[in-house]
Amino acid sequence: ISEVARVKNLNRLQIGKHELDAWYFSPYPREYAYLPVLYICEFCLSYFPSSFMLGRHRHRCTLLHPPGNEIYRHEDISFFELDGKRQLTWCRNLSLLSKCFLDHKTLYYDVTPFMYYVMTQRDSSGCHIIGYFSKEKESAENYNVACILTLPQYQRHGFGKVLIEFSYELSKKESKLGSPEKPLSDLGLLSYRAYWAEIIVEVLLNTTEDISIDDIAQKTAITHADIMNTCTTLQLFKHYKGQHIICLSDAVLEKHEKTRSKRRRRIHPEYLIWKPPV
Ligand code: COA
Ligand code: NA
Repeated sequence: ISEVARVKNLNRLQIGKHELDAWYFSPYPREYAYLPVLYICEFCLSYFPSSFMLGRHRHRCTLLHPPGNEIYRHEDISFFELDGKRQLTWCRNLSLLSKCFLDHKTLYYDVTPFMYYVMTQRDSSGCHIIGYFSKEKESAENYNVACILTLPQYQRHGFGKVLIEFSYELSKKESKLGSPEKPLSDLGLLSYRAYWAEIIVEVLLNTTEDISIDDIAQKTAITHADIMNTCTTLQLFKHYKGQHIICLSDAVLEKHEKTRSKRRRRIHPEYLIWKPPV
């Protein structure tokens, strides 16, 4: 693909009842790439050049949720697990869609090495995709997330943190510590920092005993490095009688109260029915 073709091609996408701006280049086939609006089936993620053709497809399409196994359901939120090899077309369509909002140099043509965890919100018309993350089947670096996305119409409502929380619940089931693949985008880094801070402060507030970095890691599946960085950023380490201790400042506690008052959705691990794929 030439440099010229890499500039942002699509203008707008229509998906479900939402119309959104694409942020970045995505390698949709040429004949679709330069339309003013691309029409996407919200359930199978197939794409069409006109509203008419999408409408015709909608009469035939029988999907009401992502293919794959529903591994979590609580209230109106469900997670589906997809194997990039088995649900190849759907995962390719997801990659094309998500590339519209991801500024990565590498394009994810090859979906087969990844599992996909897709978060949906259920109503009477079906399970509507909010976001997802992908995860390498085998990660030498113990990455527990490769790509993560909340569709723009759902951003800034706490769903990114819910996706992140879910990824750590999977790591707990694997008895592993995990960290997202680097480099993270600016928005990715902001969201992870906010998540780590929220969870670490929560653990500290809920303990009466002495607690080590390793104890926090075992409870949260967050790596020692990510915990250390978060505590350093929040200036939680203090010297006390020749020892390093973790100390919550009024500023950190105030920030935490503010975060809690937003009452974002949480993952309830008892509803996760999942064993690590073999
Ligand atoms: N500006 C400033 N802070 C932001 C932000 C923004 N636009 N978006 C997220 N944050 C920070 C905030 O601290 C926020 O918490 P708060 O709203 O309580 O202050 C925290 O991140 C989490 O936000 P949340 O609403 O849970 O995340 P989200 O649903 O908006 O999703 C991403 C976050 C990263 C998944 C989303 O921005 C996205 O899909 N971006 C495009 C794809 C991408 O860059 N993915 C990561 C690299 S693979
Ligand atoms: Na990635």
